[in-house]
Amino acid sequence: MRSRITVVGAGNVGATLAQRLAERDYADVVLVDIVEGLPQGKALDMLESGPVVGFDSLVAGSNDYAATAGSDIAIITSGVPRKPGMSRDDLVMTNAKIVSGVTRELVNHSPDCILIVVANPVDAMAQLAHAISGFSRERVIGMAGILDTARFRTFIAQELDASVHDVQAYVLGGHGDTMVPLTRLTTVAGIPVGDLIPKERLDTIVQRARDGGAEIVNLLKTGSAYYAPSAATAQMVDAILHDTRQVLPCTVRLQGEYGVDGVFTGVPCRLGTGGLLEVIDVELTDDERAALHRSADAVRQVVAVMDARRSEIDPALQPML
Ligand code: LAC
Repeated sequence: MRSRITVVGAGNVGATLAQRLAERDYADVVLVDIVEGLPQGKALDMLESGPVVGFDSLVAGSNDYAATAGSDIAIITSGVPRKPGMSRDDLVMTNAKIVSGVTRELVNHSPDCILIVVANPVDAMAQLAHAISGFSRERVIGMAGILDTARFRTFIAQELDASVHDVQAYVLGGHGDTMVPLTRLTTVAGIPVGDLIPKERLDTIVQRARDGGAEIVNLLKTGSAYYAPSAATAQMVDAILHDTRQVLPCTVRLQGEYGVDGVFTGVPCRLGTGGLLEVIDVELTDDERAALHRSADAVRQVVAVMDARRSEIDPALQPML
């Protein structure tokens, strides 16, 4: 039997992700949205591409979560995107109300699923989905680090006229202004990037990666990125469904790793059957560790905003910090 994946949100990220997953031909895909006809129309259109692209995945759209029952993985992309000038954190209360309702529906229909959270501010939304679902931390994972790392790798490859395949990079921390690209551990064909790009130039590239989401928002004006975010999410699904045990930067609930406790933050994670298999606790320098802690504190502040107003989000929501 093919696996079943639910994608909630038939906007740009959700629909592009559904397409990427359907074309992988390893799972049936259910696309859910509150807008009537939208998930049905996009899903049917995708399904009809199957004979040409060559996949047998079933793709169905629905406004009703009953259609998602028994999903192995459910991905939450719903929520409002940023507009120019907004930070991801500005979205917190609007998206918290959406993400909490979606999480309840998903958990009711697929109590054994793994949740992947994409809605922004993603670290805080993953923390909320974890609290609402009651799932173990292994089964609630946020997508951010793969995207941030992909941007960083792209810019390094461009700078050196190198293949992206040869660029290995680490970006840790929350998905926001405080994210922590670890240049010390970034290599190009095994060579430390610091030996190849002068520090000043590297600092500029780091900043561009940090601002990567905003750069796209400013260009698009009416939405945020979706090709790279959907590709990053699909890589997490690959690792989980195929049990590749690949180490990918994801946002998960830390329980003392890196000296951070009880808050979602981006760290290298081994993914496989069951979701999070292991947090890889890389030895950091004092400066790197301090930067990671600043980033975790920034996530904590956003979670505290939700905690203070949690009755507006969900009357049953318990404090998350
Ligand atoms: C970005 C948004 C999706 O980084 O957070 O593009």
